[in-house]
Amino acid sequence: MRSYTLTAPAKINLYLEIIGDRPDGYHELVMILQSIDLADTIEVQAGNTGAIRLCCTHPQVPLDKSNIGYRAAELMAAKFPAAYDNYGGVDITIHKRIPVAAGLAGGSTNAAAVLVGMNLLWNLGLTRSELEELGALLGSDVPFCIGGGTAIATGRGEQLSPLPGLDNMYIVLAKHRSLEVSTPWAYKTYRAAYGETYLKDTESLTARATAVHSGPMVQAIVHKNAREIGQKLHNDLEQVVLPEYPQVLRLREVFANAGVLGTMMSGSGPSVFGLCEYEEIAKQVQVRVIEAMANEDLELFVTRTISHGIQIGSSV
Ligand code: C5P
Repeated sequence: MRSYTLTAPAKINLYLEIIGDRPDGYHELVMILQSIDLADTIEVQAGNTGAIRLCCTHPQVPLDKSNIGYRAAELMAAKFPAAYDNYGGVDITIHKRIPVAAGLAGGSTNAAAVLVGMNLLWNLGLTRSELEELGALLGSDVPFCIGGGTAIATGRGEQLSPLPGLDNMYIVLAKHRSLEVSTPWAYKTYRAAYGETYLKDTESLTARATAVHSGPMVQAIVHKNAREIGQKLHNDLEQVVLPEYPQVLRLREVFANAGVLGTMMSGSGPSVFGLCEYEEIAKQVQVRVIEAMANEDLELFVTRTISHGIQIGSSV
């Protein structure tokens, strides 16, 4: 095969708790990550130039090493130089639908698709856990994006423990088109404000992760209780992002009054989502958000939760 087309879904955070800092500058997290049916399409083909070539027409997507998808291809080339030469490099095309710099793992899921696609294209036979290990070298969310679904993520976010799939809950998702929040800024600001209260020792980190495992959000997911999931949504980073970005705070308020079961910022923002049990309600919520934010330039979607990550669409 010379070419593969893959779908690369976005994720939202149903839960994000910061429980410690790390010597590498990152933070110890307990998150519950959920894939959603809003996806980019990635084409991975044997190269024409003997190099890595990345195409994307979205104006906010860089085409060089600053793109994590490009770095995923570089990593594969460095690990498998013979395949890189044999296949004449690699050509990657990204068709972008996921809002950029939004807290939805758009870049991470593209990198995950590049790893999965190049594994197939180059006939490498890497297992999912081997791909996840490579993904962890690229970014904290990449391992989750490979398999997707619903999972608890600990450590930097790369240690995964799967949860029962949560299909067909409806998500209304909104982001101010030109607003970006820097993820390093959000974590650094949180550390400056709340770092003193972290749990520092390894034993209490484990205890905290265990408490989330056996806590009410996981129970709600296991029982597919949408109302309860809506009430237990949590994201520590809201404490620093909402006061600094009034537009995000306003979106949160609009969602809270629009008839959703729960609303939360995803990741480090600025996307905000609302959870609904039924599609009709989600569509009504979408209309209410449009009406309330009539003067704002929003990217707005009605989507749903799914129980998979990267999928192979077609091969030629
Ligand atoms: O791993 P990734 O490149 O996606 O992380 C982006 C940024 O988010 C990091 O540079 C870091 O500032 C912050 N981060 C963190 N702790 C984590 C994950 C991310 O501080 N566990």
